[in-house]
Amino acid sequence: MKTILNRTAPGKKDDQKFMKIALKMSERGLGFTEPNPLVGAVVVKNGKILSCGYHQAFGMKHAETMALENLDVPGTTLYLTLEPCCHFGKTPPCTDLIIAKKVKRVVTAMADPNPLVNGAGMRKLRDHGIQVRCGVYGDWAERINRHYLKAIRTRVPYVTLHAGISLDGKLTDDAGRSRWMTSEEGRRYSHSLRGEFSAILAGRGTLLADNPRLNLREPGWQGKTLYRVVLDSANSLSRRLNIFKEQERFPLIIFSSDKAPNRRKKVPLHFFVGHDKHGLLLVDVLKQLYKLGIASLLVEGGGRVLDSFIRERLFDEMALFFSNKIVGGRNSGQIFASGDRLEEALELVDCRWSEFAGGSMLRGYRKCSPD
Ligand SMILES: NC(=O)c1ccc[n+]([C@@H]2O[C@H](COP(=O)([O-])OP(=O)(O)OC[C@H]3O[C@@H](n4cnc5c(N)ncnc54)[C@H](OP(=O)(O)O)[C@@H]3O)[C@@H](O)[C@H]2O)c1
Repeated sequence: MKTILNRTAPGKKDDQKFMKIALKMSERGLGFTEPNPLVGAVVVKNGKILSCGYHQAFGMKHAETMALENLDVPGTTLYLTLEPCCHFGKTPPCTDLIIAKKVKRVVTAMADPNPLVNGAGMRKLRDHGIQVRCGVYGDWAERINRHYLKAIRTRVPYVTLHAGISLDGKLTDDAGRSRWMTSEEGRRYSHSLRGEFSAILAGRGTLLADNPRLNLREPGWQGKTLYRVVLDSANSLSRRLNIFKEQERFPLIIFSSDKAPNRRKKVPLHFFVGHDKHGLLLVDVLKQLYKLGIASLLVEGGGRVLDSFIRERLFDEMALFFSNKIVGGRNSGQIFASGDRLEEALELVDCRWSEFAGGSMLRGYRKCSPD
C-alpha cells in the first residue's frame, strides 16, 4: 500500500532521498564550473532513477540537459539542486527542455538568486502545468554552492583564508621561514585545495620570501585554469620571479597602488587601485576580481595579508593546517597580528577537523554578527 502511494504522489522521504543523490552529483563539478554554480539533476519515475547529470564545467551542458536530453519518458520527476534557468546564456533555457520533455514534477533544493532567474524559472514551469516543490535540503545546497551564492548576491568573490601554522599558531619561525611548517601530506592536501577555487592570492612579502609558483600540481585538476593574484603596491616585483612563469594556464593578476610612481602594466590583467595605511584597498581588489568572473578566492598569505583580510572581516571561511610543531619566537609570523578584544574576537562556526600525518586541518566558517 505504502509503495503504491509513493508511486502516485512522491512523499517527503523520496524527495529527500533523490535530492541527496542530486546534491552529491553536483559536487563532481567542484572547481570547474565557476562563475557558474554546481548543479546536479536526477530524473525519477515510479521510484526508479532513469538518468542523472551534473554541470561538469563552465560553458558545458547544464545538469538538467545532461539528464534529460536523451530521455523520452513523459511524466517524470526531476530533482534539481538549483532552480532551472529560464534565460539564454551560453546554453538555451533549461525550463524549455523540461517543458518539452513533459516532466510532471520538479523538485529543487533552492531558488537561484541570479537576477536573471530568481524565481522566474519555477514560475515558468508552474505556468506550464508542472508541479514544483522548492526547498528540499536547501541548507545543504546553500553550503555546496557557497562560492556561487556569495558572489552573485554581493558581487565580490567568496574568500577562504588558508595557512599552514604551528601548534602554537605561528606562520613562520623567528627568522621568517615557513617552508617546512606543515608535513608533506599536509602540503599536498593544501596544494590540492587550490583546485576548488577560481583564484589564489598572495602578498608581495611571500613572493619575495618564498618565490612560489602558486600553481596546481596535484592530480585531479588537469585542464583547470587557476588565476593567481598578487598585491604589489609599488609595482616593483621583478619579472624574474616564478610567479611570472606559466601564465597561459595560470594567468597572473597584479594589483598596485594608483599612486605608484611606476604605472606601467607588467601583465595584461594589471590593475591600479586605492591605498590606505594598511596597503591596497582590499574591497576594490575583490570588486575587480568579481568583474573578471572570479567567484572564489583562496588567500595564501602571508601574515600581513591575512591580517588585513581578518581585520576588515573580508573573508567567509578559514582552512588552517596545524602542524605538530611548536615554533615559538617573538618575531615569528602570525595570522592576525592586529588582534581583537576578547569580547569582539572572531569566531568560526561549523568547524570540521581532518587528521593528517604530522598534523590536522580545520575548516570553519566566519560567524557573522547578527546585523
Ligand atoms: N605558513 C604559511 O602558510 C605561509 C603562507 C604564506 C606566507 N608565509 C610566510 O609569510 C611571510 C611573508 O609574510 P609577510 O607578512 O611578510 O608578507 P605578505 O603578507 O605575503 O605580503 C605583505 C605585503 O603585501 C602588500 N600589500 C598590499 N596591500 C596589502 C594589504 N591591504 N594588506 C596587507 N599587505 C598588503 C604589502 O607590500 P607592498 O606595500 O610592497 O605592496 C605588504 O608588505 C614569509 O616568510 C612567508 O614564508 C607563510
